Amino acid sequence: MPFRTIIEPFRIKTVEPIRRTTRDEREVALIEAGYNLFQLKADEVLIDLLTDSGTSAMSSAQWAGMMQGDESYAGARSFYRFESAVREITNLKHVIPTHQGRAAERILFGSLLKPGDIVPNNTHFDTTRANVEYRRAKASDLPIPEGKQPQLIHPFKGDIDLAALEHLLADPPARVPLVMITVTNNSGGGQPVSMANIRAASELCRRHGVPLFLDACRFAENAWFIKLREKGYADKAPLAIAQEMFSHVDGCTMSAKKDGLANIGGFLALNDDDLAQQCKKLLILTEGFPTYGGLAGYDLEAIAVGLHEVLDEDYLRYRIRSVEYLGEILTREEVPIMQPPGGHAIYLDALSMLPHIPQSEYPAWALSLVLYLEGGIRSAEIGSIMFGLQPDGSEKPADMELVRLAFPRRVYTQSHVDYLAEVLIHVNALRERIRGVRIVEAPPVLRHFSARLAPAHGALIVD
Ligand SMILES: Cc1ncc(COP(=O)(O)O)c(C=O)c1O
Repeated sequence: MPFRTIIEPFRIKTVEPIRRTTRDEREVALIEAGYNLFQLKADEVLIDLLTDSGTSAMSSAQWAGMMQGDESYAGARSFYRFESAVREITNLKHVIPTHQGRAAERILFGSLLKPGDIVPNNTHFDTTRANVEYRRAKASDLPIPEGKQPQLIHPFKGDIDLAALEHLLADPPARVPLVMITVTNNSGGGQPVSMANIRAASELCRRHGVPLFLDACRFAENAWFIKLREKGYADKAPLAIAQEMFSHVDGCTMSAKKDGLANIGGFLALNDDDLAQQCKKLLILTEGFPTYGGLAGYDLEAIAVGLHEVLDEDYLRYRIRSVEYLGEILTREEVPIMQPPGGHAIYLDALSMLPHIPQSEYPAWALSLVLYLEGGIRSAEIGSIMFGLQPDGSEKPADMELVRLAFPRRVYTQSHVDYLAEVLIHVNALRERIRGVRIVEAPPVLRHFSARLAPAHGALIVD
């Protein structure tokens, strides 16, 4: 077609109102939430970019599929549809449904890890890290050095550092029961991993007899980036690229709340028969029988359809372009963001925007609060509140202080994105007046979900 505009490739059939609030109302809401955006009521938020997880709009085909859900306890038709959708993409032998991604992680790590073990990953997501540490094993992040420089442009900043991985596998200070690669690398800025990197990591792992698993939440977005950026893939279909990604690994954990286009669900898939047996034992104990694993039959149907729709080229083109579009405006207006824009989110670089706030006063957290106060936008800190607390109770500043604006799938339109850009440009203009925060109380693990904070200097924005 001769036209350049990339449109939302869908019509809207059902709408859900969003509520405007005043700045005064948001100020009160923040105090009541203990300056923690996770503690807000969703009705107090205008544009909710807290997460892209479980927040997708489902298609009419998914809703229709749900009506066909088979709720039989064992051997439901819906399970076989789900299993065959997962197998078509992954070609992995055992497909184990779970209620979401972290349940797959807990079951896998519960079966594989012993205290003192090490799990390398390009970058562990917070629940993945917490589940590794819960088994008293060590989560080791090995991103490539380029992945830690927010302003640097690189096509595959999500790649795992192969030299560091080889070094660790050749001379491990402890047992390495598996290696993981997260596609795309959520905590590292939603950055993709190249096929070459997955292939090389796979060869390395094979040489050392260690299984390689994908944390595959955003496998379709990763496949699209490979198509756009990696030589030899431009003419391949996203499905074929995804199949090739999975052909290099021994298993995966998956949150279907992302690239499953579902509101709940996940799975663990793997080839090893003995390990699958172990995992199924744990599954029955805590999730459910292996043909439903904590999900309703209708959830399995929604995921089966979602896994197919997510690999549609028009969908992926629109999806990645929406994020890139916001990235282009912000770059033009000199709002510091992680470059290049990731697949599911824009990451504001709070260390660059707020150099006057020390990491001990959590600049990314403060910035996320100001975005809510000024524009009703909810985002997520990926910085020292999320990652600073060490298992021994000490504090270590995170490598980066990012604010993630994660886009729910098929939910917001271009005018929402234009509004977002306006708010972000406005907040950037206020940046010298923004101040940091301090922790009032926090739990010892996953503190970002429930910690209570307060402005460190009386107000978030000073005159
Ligand atoms: C990379 C990654 N891994 C694992 C998870 C955990 O998935 P879930 O939220 O379904 O438990 C997430 C969720 O955000 C994620 O982004």
